[in-house]
Amino acid sequence: MALRQILTEPNKILREKSTNVEKVDDEIRKLMDDMLETMYAAPGIGLAAIQVGIPKRIIVLDISGKDQVKKPMYFVNPEILDKSSTNSTYEEGCLSVPGQFAEIDRPEKCYIKFLDYYGKPQEIKAEGMLATCIQHEIDHLEGILFIDYLSKLKKSMIIKKLSKQKKAIERIIV
Ligand code: NI
Repeated sequence: MALRQILTEPNKILREKSTNVEKVDDEIRKLMDDMLETMYAAPGIGLAAIQVGIPKRIIVLDISGKDQVKKPMYFVNPEILDKSSTNSTYEEGCLSVPGQFAEIDRPEKCYIKFLDYYGKPQEIKAEGMLATCIQHEIDHLEGILFIDYLSKLKKSMIIKKLSKQKKAIERIIV
């Protein structure tokens, strides 16, 4: 396994639409292993392949608590079949939008189908935090970030802040 670099906003690649995986083979499993390791190291609870620069419809998640047994979840080609009409609100952050958090409303339940780590078709009903995380990650596959749900002003302030942070880091390297 190897750590991959996580891209951060503003980066055009994060806005790309990811394409379906044709076959879940060893190469895809290797990528999922790397993504999981990268996510744990960050640390984060979810990561989409596009966040490590690969525009494929792959998500890894682990929403188990800090001192609990790890429960990695893998979703290839996830598709939302149905959503509840009622929403829930969580304060969301994103490894590609470091240090920024905002309250986001999303449907509180969703039914999704996907291929698992071995390429087997699966369906699950997700609710609570899992539902929010899956929807956040599926957004990544469409090139959508959680800051897109904020007001124009709030979003531009966050992007400005992140751009400045990037420049500051570059200055030190140069
Ligand atoms: Ni994210």
